[in-house]
Amino acid sequence: MTEETLTEILPPIRHWPALDLSGVEFDPVLTELMREGPITRIQLPNGEGWAWLVTRYEDVRTVTNDPRFSREAVMDRPVTRLAPHFIPERGAVGFLDPPDHTRLRRSVAAAFTAKGVERIRERSRRMLEELVSELIQDGPPADLTATVLSPFPIAVICELMGVPAGDRHLMHTWTQLILSSSHGADVSEKAKKEMGAYFADLIGQRENSSAEDVASLLGAAVGQDEVTLQEAVGLAVLLQIGGEAVTNNSGQLFYVLLTRPDLAERLRAEPEIRPQAIEELLRYIPHRNAVGLSRIAMEDVGIQGVRIRAGDAIYVSYLAANRDPDVFPYPETIDFDRSPNPHVSFGFGPHYCPGGMLARMEEQLLVDALLDRLPRLRLAVPPEKVPFRKGALIRGPEALPVTW
Ligand code: HEM
Repeated sequence: MTEETLTEILPPIRHWPALDLSGVEFDPVLTELMREGPITRIQLPNGEGWAWLVTRYEDVRTVTNDPRFSREAVMDRPVTRLAPHFIPERGAVGFLDPPDHTRLRRSVAAAFTAKGVERIRERSRRMLEELVSELIQDGPPADLTATVLSPFPIAVICELMGVPAGDRHLMHTWTQLILSSSHGADVSEKAKKEMGAYFADLIGQRENSSAEDVASLLGAAVGQDEVTLQEAVGLAVLLQIGGEAVTNNSGQLFYVLLTRPDLAERLRAEPEIRPQAIEELLRYIPHRNAVGLSRIAMEDVGIQGVRIRAGDAIYVSYLAANRDPDVFPYPETIDFDRSPNPHVSFGFGPHYCPGGMLARMEEQLLVDALLDRLPRLRLAVPPEKVPFRKGALIRGPEALPVTW
């Protein structure tokens, strides 16, 4: 794009309020923003000023993969945002640019590849079998979130991290406090410090370990001066917390399957299509509210004929990109035969989610176990009575009352 074709006319700033949406309803404000044009300006409930928003698939991939947009620069700016508390830590993986970001991510990469995840599939399957057996033994009705969708991802992420089974509960409590906004910033900071101290200990103990869990990989990386202990601890905390995202995502996944028995029936009848069906559900599920972390333009950049000035903040919406009709025909339709399906539910560019393979493996195991062992699984309440999380960044059912 040449300089001359860039417009200086700024689109209006749209206020994007925090909405407590239910089910898998697509955010109506985002629908409006997508309709308004490929690049708009938004103001979110917290922080200051306005930021750009891109919603088309190609633009989302451009912004997230172009080094002219920096994450590190967000550290020093009170950018308009959804989250009430913003306590970014210098050196945290979400706020680094390459090459430091690459160096940090490399230290744990092996644990999150398809091979790394495969290593714990069988153990994960057995842990899930136990949880589902207990559920069946206790009998209906039950809350699927409390009995399976919450404990299972915690057990799996602890396994991958190398956290002993006896400490799972501790990890879960800290995670809840860190992620919750209702207890206040102090409580969440304290929990983060405590989890950090725990991991500093664990990583320290594993400096000479050649095991493949994340704490051992980090121990080795610290031992070889590839990352500092502080960086390693910060990363361990984020990975541990991130692990619980699967509870909310699979909560939405099962909400879809339980409210669309036709889809569940097809998955029971054709188990071979489950992996591709899960990809389609991942594309469709509105994983989060509004948008996540912004990026800052380090120089003037033209996008869709609009000049983004150096210093401007910009957001991408992966949710919107997943509904771009140029890439996903009939984007509102859940189509298990969709091919290709290059969704960006796990992000794009250097900050793409490290947990993508792990989340897929967990959702495959959950679909197998729950559909096959509970052929009559259904909601125990009408769909509109399922309680959904309020005031949250990540969307999902608070409880999923089921019977069978
Ligand atoms: C279905 C479940 C999940 C979804 C939909 C999801 C989605 C995402 C998205 C969209 C991003 C942001 C990309 C960006 O900043 O541009 C992200 C980042 C991240 N996720 Fe996930 N995630 C999931 C599960 C997990 C799991 C299981 C873990 C832990 C192992 C995890 C850990 C992280 C971390 C640490 C980051 C920051 C990466 C970075 O900035 O380099 N997530 N995730």
